[in-house]
Amino acid sequence: MAKVDNDMEEYLSRHTSPMADTLMELTRFTYLSTCNPRMISGPIQGKFLQLLCNISRPNRILEVGTFTGYTSICMALGSPPHTVIDTIEVNDELEETIQTYTSMAGVDSKIRLHLGDACQIIPTLDYTYDFAYIDGDKREYPEYYKLVLPKVNSGGLIIADNVLWGGKVVDASENDEHTKALRAFNTMVQNDMGVENVLLPLRDGIMLIYKL
Ligand SMILES: C[S@@+](CC[C@H](N)C(=O)[O-])C[C@H]1O[C@@H](n2cnc3c(N)ncnc32)[C@H](O)[C@@H]1O
Repeated sequence: MAKVDNDMEEYLSRHTSPMADTLMELTRFTYLSTCNPRMISGPIQGKFLQLLCNISRPNRILEVGTFTGYTSICMALGSPPHTVIDTIEVNDELEETIQTYTSMAGVDSKIRLHLGDACQIIPTLDYTYDFAYIDGDKREYPEYYKLVLPKVNSGGLIIADNVLWGGKVVDASENDEHTKALRAFNTMVQNDMGVENVLLPLRDGIMLIYKL
């Protein structure tokens, strides 16, 4: 199952703790003001990330692909007050939206927004992380993994979104660049003896990785 149908998605939402008001407003704004609003993660995945942060209490979080800031806010809401989130976004037109909504959610003091290409920026970040969320360009997932993994502490988590890519990863007739890169990423993680991982059929597929 790569995508649940609308009825099921609604049922899942109705049986998941409600999202913060600011996230509802951000969702509305994202649908009104961006070209590809479906990139926003949504309430189930957002709550999942929030709860993972509640459980793992990360000191520092790395995010690849901020978009309008939905998942940055979810992770900030779930993490302790001292947590810092380095989030990287290549589209600088999103800066004002990210600042406005992280501020409205009361989490702006936790967010460090880095504008630019994650492949260039990650090597310049002189920190280690307890939690990383990969949600940038799907064609770059293998590269993100190579760059992010060394910066994640032992016992830390890496979560990667969209790893089923609408089911294309299991369809042999699909060989576009995104699908090929996601297959390569999933194989790379599966063959990595330094991690334990589980591929969850949540929304478009989430790879949950625990660094040993
Ligand atoms: C799927 S969206 C992220 C959604 C966001 N995590 C959320 O749930 O609201 C992917 C984002 O990654 C950004 N992106 C793509 N390639 C990137 C790169 N190389 N470095 C940084 N950001 C990138 C895109 O501009 C886009 O805003």
